[in-house]
Amino acid sequence: MLKRDVLRKPKTLYLLTNNDGKLREFRELGASHSLKIAKAGLEKLEIQSSSLEEIATYAALTGYLSLRKPLLAEDAGLFIQSLNGFPGPYSSYVFKTLGNEGILRIMDGMNLRRACFRSAISLVLDIQTIKVFTGEICGSISNKVRGKSGFGFDPIFIPEGYTRTFAEMSVKEKNKISHRAKAFNSMMEWLENNSF
Ligand code: IMP
Repeated sequence: MLKRDVLRKPKTLYLLTNNDGKLREFRELGASHSLKIAKAGLEKLEIQSSSLEEIATYAALTGYLSLRKPLLAEDAGLFIQSLNGFPGPYSSYVFKTLGNEGILRIMDGMNLRRACFRSAISLVLDIQTIKVFTGEICGSISNKVRGKSGFGFDPIFIPEGYTRTFAEMSVKEKNKISHRAKAFNSMMEWLENNSF
C-alpha cells in the first residue's frame, strides 16, 4: 500500500472558528467519540459563494496550509423557505446586521414559516485528503425570540417534532438532532471506516 493510502484516525482535530457556541457543540460531539477538538486560533477566511461546501473547503484548506495539522472548518446557514432560502450562505452577515428580531420583522404576517439549518464540514487530514460532510435539520421559525442557550438563530428555530426552540435546549439535546451533529456523525463514520 502506498504511504499516502494509510490514514491514521487523528486523536485531535483543530477547528477553525471564532464562534464559541460552535466550539462548545463540536467539543461535546468530539467527546462522545473520544476525539479532542482544539481551537485552531487562526482567522477563518470566508469567500463569497452560494455553496456552504465551497466556503467551508476554502476556509479549511487555507487553515491547513498555515497550521499543517488535521483540521476542520464548518460553514452553516439558515434557509427560510418563504424567503427563497435567505439568508442561507449569508447567515453570518445577516445575523450581525438584522439579528433574530430583524428576521421576525421580515416574516411578520407570514404563515409559511418552514426553515432548515444546513451544515457543511470540510475535513483536511493532509493535502491529499480533503472531504466534505453535510447535515440538515428542518423545522419552523417561531413568532418570537425564545430561550437563552446556544447562539445565532437558535432562539427563533423550532426543530420539527418539538415545541421548544434550539435556544431552549441544552447543548446535549441540540447535538442529538442538529444539522452540525448530522454532518459531524457522517465525518466520524467516514473516519472509522477509512483509517485505523
Ligand atoms: P458560520 O458557519 O460561522 O459562517 O455561521 C453562519 C451563521 O449562521 C452564524 O453566525 C449563525 O448566525 C447561523 N448559524 C449557523 N449554525 C447555527 C446554529 O446551529 N444555530 C444558530 N445559528 C446558526
